[in-house]
Amino acid sequence: MQSRKVKNILVTGGAGFIGSAFIRYVLTQVPSFNGKCHNLDVLTYAGNLANLAEIDQDPRYQFHKGDIRDQALVERLCAEHGIDTIVHFAAESHVDRSISGPQAFIESNVLGTFHLLEVLKKYPHIHFHHISTDEVYGCLGATGFFTEETPYRPNSPYSASKAASDHLVKAYGHTYNLSVCISNCSNNYGPYQFPEKLIPLMIFNCLNGKKLPVYGTGQNVRDWLYVNDHAKAIWMLLLKGRKGETYNVGGESEWKNIDLIHEIIRVIADLQGKDKRELEALISYVTDRPGHDFRYAIDCTKIKKEIGWAPDHSFHQGLKETVAWYLNNQEWIEIVQDEGLKKNSLLAELVPS
Ligand SMILES: NC(=O)c1ccc[n+]([C@@H]2O[C@H](COP(=O)([O-])OP(=O)(O)OC[C@H]3O[C@@H](n4cnc5c(N)ncnc54)[C@H](O)[C@@H]3O)[C@@H](O)[C@H]2O)c1
Repeated sequence: MQSRKVKNILVTGGAGFIGSAFIRYVLTQVPSFNGKCHNLDVLTYAGNLANLAEIDQDPRYQFHKGDIRDQALVERLCAEHGIDTIVHFAAESHVDRSISGPQAFIESNVLGTFHLLEVLKKYPHIHFHHISTDEVYGCLGATGFFTEETPYRPNSPYSASKAASDHLVKAYGHTYNLSVCISNCSNNYGPYQFPEKLIPLMIFNCLNGKKLPVYGTGQNVRDWLYVNDHAKAIWMLLLKGRKGETYNVGGESEWKNIDLIHEIIRVIADLQGKDKRELEALISYVTDRPGHDFRYAIDCTKIKKEIGWAPDHSFHQGLKETVAWYLNNQEWIEIVQDEGLKKNSLLAELVPS
């Protein structure tokens, strides 16, 4: 299979969790990369430049503060920097927030993607990779997997906004003959994840003796993908992903929420030499999320067979590295939480004390 040339990349949402992991991956793990990574991010509560401290002095990196809906800005960046590839991460990404305030999700996820696609029409030589979620496929029962052929059935305002953006990307690719590709991934975890998402929230609360809130009875099942394995998948898809295609990316690591929380407790207790019963006593069951999807699971045969990707980390290894990272970087957690609180008061409600 012929490899696409990737030189000057515009990464949207590169100050967020996965976007920053992707930029760090390209600049530190891809020795052949001799282009430039331009990071366009408006820095919502979830975006933080501290996520890029490791590489921000690299001459191949440049940050641009701005909104993806500012089409004139995106056009100017593409022209001035000879952009040949856009990797689109920027989005509102927290399901609970989409339930309490869906408008921002429509604006950034749907309208934002629309404006980027309009830019692509003007610069059709640019390859566009769209990052999406397995949540667009809806909800599974106890068995079965999402494949790339599974019909879309989004259940939350978040997943509906991502589904809408996926449809726009496919329609623009088809109608205007643009070079687009989509990947739909499962739940990511790893260092630098904003501490409102399940794994960092549980770690943070364990370390601070706070309650560990569990939705319903904790029986919901998610597949977990280590963020650096995801970054590698995206890089490989940039090189080899076929125009107009969708690829599912998963960690092949399904966990019931409650079992996952016990596993996090076990790893923390091990690393800190603590009695795990003390941490288990923090578990607190809370009213279930409205419309909470029961199970997501991904069949990622296509990306494995066609692109040759496979995750490098087992879940146990990834979780241990993640917990160790949070133990060693508590200052980072405080910085991003303080900044997040200043930018968005809703955070206080989402991180129960
Ligand atoms: N985190 C996951 O487990 C997961 C799973 C599947 C798919 N995804 C998708 O991956 C992508 C990245 O997710 P994440 O977890 O890194 O999200 P995140 O919330 O950590 O980061 C999103 C970033 O986008 C920026 N942003 C938001 N709106 C913007 C706008 N209008 N203009 C410019 N920048 C804007 C934010 O400032 C932030 O830096 C999203 O598209 C999300 O839907 C995430």
